[in-house]
Amino acid sequence: MSDFFKVLENRNSVRKYSDRPLPEDLCRKLVEAGLRAPTAVNKQELHFTVVKNDDPVQAEIQNDLNPDAQTSFFYNAPVTIYISGNESFKWTAVDAGIAVENIHLAAEALGLGSVILGCMKDVLNGEKKEEYARKLDFPEGYGYQIAIAAGYAEATKEQHSFDFEKNVTMF
Ligand SMILES: Cc1cc2nc3c(=O)[nH]c(=O)nc-3n(C[C@H](O)[C@H](O)[C@H](O)COP(=O)(O)O)c2cc1C
Repeated sequence: MSDFFKVLENRNSVRKYSDRPLPEDLCRKLVEAGLRAPTAVNKQELHFTVVKNDDPVQAEIQNDLNPDAQTSFFYNAPVTIYISGNESFKWTAVDAGIAVENIHLAAEALGLGSVILGCMKDVLNGEKKEEYARKLDFPEGYGYQIAIAAGYAEATKEQHSFDFEKNVTMF
């Protein structure tokens, strides 16, 4: 079996990370995986913002999500990559989804863990939308689409099961 199928079969969402920082070259590789993703009509109107876990904006988002939360919505992963995109292009959400999955699979291939994060959508698109867009360096006209936290996994789990018969039609 090719390495690619091993990556597919081994990947899962990681929700526990070691304190070990993510080296910059690996971080760049993750972002490059996002940049290599296909985009509709090759628009490439996505922006990737890499934020370290100790950046104050992380604490602000955590607090706006739930000031009483006992656990980190970022699972204390050393970096979170925010993907923003052109809000007036009809394929932006799909493009961002493809890019974030590229990053997720690249993390697995690099021996890292990652988890896609949609939970901050309402906070980043809510009343502080412009403030967060500025703090996260989103280009003009771009809005948050999805994020992904990554680092060295401290715990992994079984991949989810699936039901081929129920979810697939083959004529
Ligand atoms: C669009 C999207 C948003 C997600 N948002 C979150 C999130 O905010 N927090 C989280 O812990 N996991 C999030 N996940 C991860 C899913 O919960 C996870 O993929 C699912 O439970 C299946 O587990 P697996 O990836 O380990 O197979 C998200 C996944 C997707 C595709």
